[in-house]
Amino acid sequence: MATTTDTAPIAAIGNRPQALDVPPGTPPVVEVKGLWSVFGKGSEAFAVHQDLEFTVQRGEMLSLVGGSGTGKTVLLRQILGLARPARGTVTVLGRPASEMGRAGAASRVGMLFQHGALFSAFNVLDNVAFALREQGTLPDDLVRDAALVKLQMVGLKPEHASRMPADLSGGMVKRVALARALVMDPPLLLLDEPTAGLDPNSADEFCALLRELHAALGLTVVMVTHDLDTLFALSTRVAVLADKKVIVTGPPTEVARFKHPFIEHFFMGERGQRAMAPLAGSPGQPAAAPTQTSKDA
Ligand SMILES: Nc1ncnc2c1ncn2[C@@H]1O[C@H](COP(=O)(O)OP(=O)(O)OP(=O)(O)O)[C@@H](O)[C@H]1O
Ligand SMILES: [Mg+2]
Repeated sequence: MATTTDTAPIAAIGNRPQALDVPPGTPPVVEVKGLWSVFGKGSEAFAVHQDLEFTVQRGEMLSLVGGSGTGKTVLLRQILGLARPARGTVTVLGRPASEMGRAGAASRVGMLFQHGALFSAFNVLDNVAFALREQGTLPDDLVRDAALVKLQMVGLKPEHASRMPADLSGGMVKRVALARALVMDPPLLLLDEPTAGLDPNSADEFCALLRELHAALGLTVVMVTHDLDTLFALSTRVAVLADKKVIVTGPPTEVARFKHPFIEHFFMGERGQRAMAPLAGSPGQPAAAPTQTSKDA
């Protein structure tokens, strides 16, 4: 099976993900600088991001959290090159995200969309094969083989290949969408609410699969999630969006202690206490303190 990198091994300690050990000076996979996102025109114009900055290093699993409407999905779309910022730069693997083009984007960045987003008229295999077929450089039998390998990678069987999306469980839809995102072996994977809509068991299984693939393929992952169990299961680092910027980044347990009304509400509610309880004294996270990233906070 083709892998995306030939980098140093990474380990999952217990059920916690660990960032890849990369040599100092390795360029970031994602670098967002001075980003402004503005919607509407004239007196109706409003900024969703103002001078937002963050970077993602190779091998990290970074979670973006923030209230509804803080621009998390917009940010993922900008990293994917589907939306252009009003000001500032979004650099992915050393190149401006907006210059990747569709085919380039699929080989550099895989995206699992917020609502699954399979093509309902295509069967599983044709959904997974879509980007490879669109590229048009491989004969169809090789496209088919590549799609079958990806299905196997996400825990599906060859007999699932001919099923239609309407006949799949929620967990299987997510797996097919993941296989589709990975079909061109991109080194960077974007996940928008990867466990939304799944029952707790399926969510746990999907998190375990994502952790395995992160470790096996040396992926860099940027994800958006509202779900604290998913956040703690998958994040090597968390970046919090509030007040139109990234106000703090750091390991999840450290960020949870940062004083900000959104963070207190997000982590300190009953749900947050439940998700954090098993983590007291757990290994697996670097001891780094959170970094306050806002220039004027
Ligand atoms: N193409 C667009 N045109 C106008 N406004 C937009 C557009 N895309 C996003 N917005 C606005 O930008 C803001 C941020 O949207 P976004 O979908 O990124 O939020 P989000 O943080 O992902 O929220 P949620 O947690 O609910 O998914 C919202 O106010 C949204 O209405
Ligand atoms: Mg969103």
